[in-house]
Amino acid sequence: DPSRLETKLSTSPGPSDKIKSGEVRWGTLFTNHMFEAEWHLEEGWSVPRVVPRHSIELDPAASVLHYGLEVFEGLKAHRGTKDGKIRLFRPDKNIRRMAVSCARLGLATFDQQMMLECLRRYVMIERDWVPHGRGTALYLRPTCIAIDPKLGVARSKRNLFYIIASPVGHYFQGGNCGVNLLATTKYFRSFPGGIGFCKTGANYALGIVPSEEASRLGCHQVLWLSDAKNRFVTEAGVMNFFVLFKGSKRPELVTAPLDGTILDGVVRSSILDLVRSWGTIDVSERKYSIDEVVQGIVNGQVIEAFGSGTASIITPVTGIHYQDKMYPINSETNKKITPQLLKSMQDIFYGEVDDTFSWNVQV
Ligand code: COI
Repeated sequence: DPSRLETKLSTSPGPSDKIKSGEVRWGTLFTNHMFEAEWHLEEGWSVPRVVPRHSIELDPAASVLHYGLEVFEGLKAHRGTKDGKIRLFRPDKNIRRMAVSCARLGLATFDQQMMLECLRRYVMIERDWVPHGRGTALYLRPTCIAIDPKLGVARSKRNLFYIIASPVGHYFQGGNCGVNLLATTKYFRSFPGGIGFCKTGANYALGIVPSEEASRLGCHQVLWLSDAKNRFVTEAGVMNFFVLFKGSKRPELVTAPLDGTILDGVVRSSILDLVRSWGTIDVSERKYSIDEVVQGIVNGQVIEAFGSGTASIITPVTGIHYQDKMYPINSETNKKITPQLLKSMQDIFYGEVDDTFSWNVQV
């Protein structure tokens, strides 16, 4: 219950100039406080607390350390460039997705409205850490872990829920100038009936070594395909993935459907709503193969490609490496929708235009 929130303030120094410099590596600087609450199968939720950020002591047998019983979220608070107001971008979507991930992994359930209120109160306490300027945000990382000391593979009776926060700029080093993706048929991220739709550590852990292979081939991220046979394009590293095809009458913006194998991205869904509202581009959530994409690049049918995510926002894709060949994606047209989409989204994040979709929640 957020109205019972207990607060113990930190004596550490505040944000200072550290958060103004763009030099801090993404996700390595943290605010002074964390939100925490425990859940117990019989007792329910503890009184929630905001306390000075601290290490967590876990029993070495804690389920999270053995079976990966962990779920997390990523969402952002932005500071209005004109009015200085702090807005959360679609926190209800992240909270709902967290509930879905928790349900799949047998972690605690919670009241989503109360969770939103806890989040809001926590951000209020950390408001000085929300950086100033377009392209920056306070990145919030709600996390839920199973902490029972128990080696049996079963649902955990005790969970720890916490939120930490990190002032951030661009996710990719070198700014938003674009990434190359390695479409691999050696590794796969998910499968029908699996946990591809969950935001859980395992879905990212399995990509770390493949992304190092990508990096050796001049790529920043892996482009995940469905399976070795069909090779449908699913999502990329830390992003959902979009391709803009020329189409026969009008351009077609394509992204993979939510079939349970990909993450239901908040920026993904916002892009779909935004582009549908323009009415000038056909929007398709459909299956499409890597062969369709590389052929489209070769014959000029692919106009643009980009990734979307809370961390990466909207990042142009400048090339795809597939079967030992790099296919650069044309970056010369001045009618590109990638920068236009990024601008439209950021105008909403930073309160520069009317929030006609009612996506922002003011803190
Ligand atoms: C996000 O975009 O918020 C993510 O969670 C990606 C992350 C694993 C860096």
